[in-house]
Amino acid sequence: MKVIITEDYLSMSREAAKIVLAVVKKNPRAVLGLATGDSPIGMYEEMIRDHEQNGTSYEFISSVNLDEYVGLPASHVQSYAYFMRKHLFDRVNIDLNNTALPDGVAKDKQAECDRYNALLATKRQSVQVLGIGSNGHIGFNEPGTPFDSVTHVVDLTPNTIKDNSRLFASVDEVPTQAYSMGISNILNAEKIVIVASGEKKAWAVRQMIEGEISPAVPATALRGHKDVTVVIDAAAASLLRRE
Ligand code: F6R
Repeated sequence: MKVIITEDYLSMSREAAKIVLAVVKKNPRAVLGLATGDSPIGMYEEMIRDHEQNGTSYEFISSVNLDEYVGLPASHVQSYAYFMRKHLFDRVNIDLNNTALPDGVAKDKQAECDRYNALLATKRQSVQVLGIGSNGHIGFNEPGTPFDSVTHVVDLTPNTIKDNSRLFASVDEVPTQAYSMGISNILNAEKIVIVASGEKKAWAVRQMIEGEISPAVPATALRGHKDVTVVIDAAAASLLRRE
């Protein structure tokens, strides 16, 4: 793993954007694996700024997202589909037909997982962007998820429901299930960049980089991938033992 420690969230976002933008500029037909949450918002802002200032085009870029809440339609303000339009898709020239997320309101959940896995088999991520949960989850692969997992329906842990409740009117409104790419779908990416900021992530970051490789901390699976860059700010790096 390559580890880049930056001063703050803004510089973390810029470093991560450099990696993704290099992929986009090199291959105008690249497939971007994308994440939601607070961690990548600044990186998306940098990508939008670059699009506006330098004209980097997303006309032929496609994307696959990590996850989506079960039960929320794409029009719901808390859905990840909505998040992606708001924070990236509506602000660059990507064709929405080339973007993909699991369908939160699909009638048959297993059929939806099968559809998404089939799609991922045809759209290998040129680069996969990840955040990390305070419990070490990646995507919604919670502790205990096997490393060979593919897209599946996840029962969210109380810890994750609590973490995510800040975006909802009350904790009772947070969906209790989500679709998530599995760890094996994530590891299939050609390149991975994982961003984390703040003290709240320090434990998970330490486990990911220095802890025992185990499904107990899903992010440790990334140590088995040949091209992972961890971009973290000083607070998220604060528990690392090694220089
Ligand atoms: C989001 C996702 C999650 C988040 C993680 C961190 O698509 O897959 O794994 O990356 O929960 O969330 P934030 O960035 O909000 O701290």
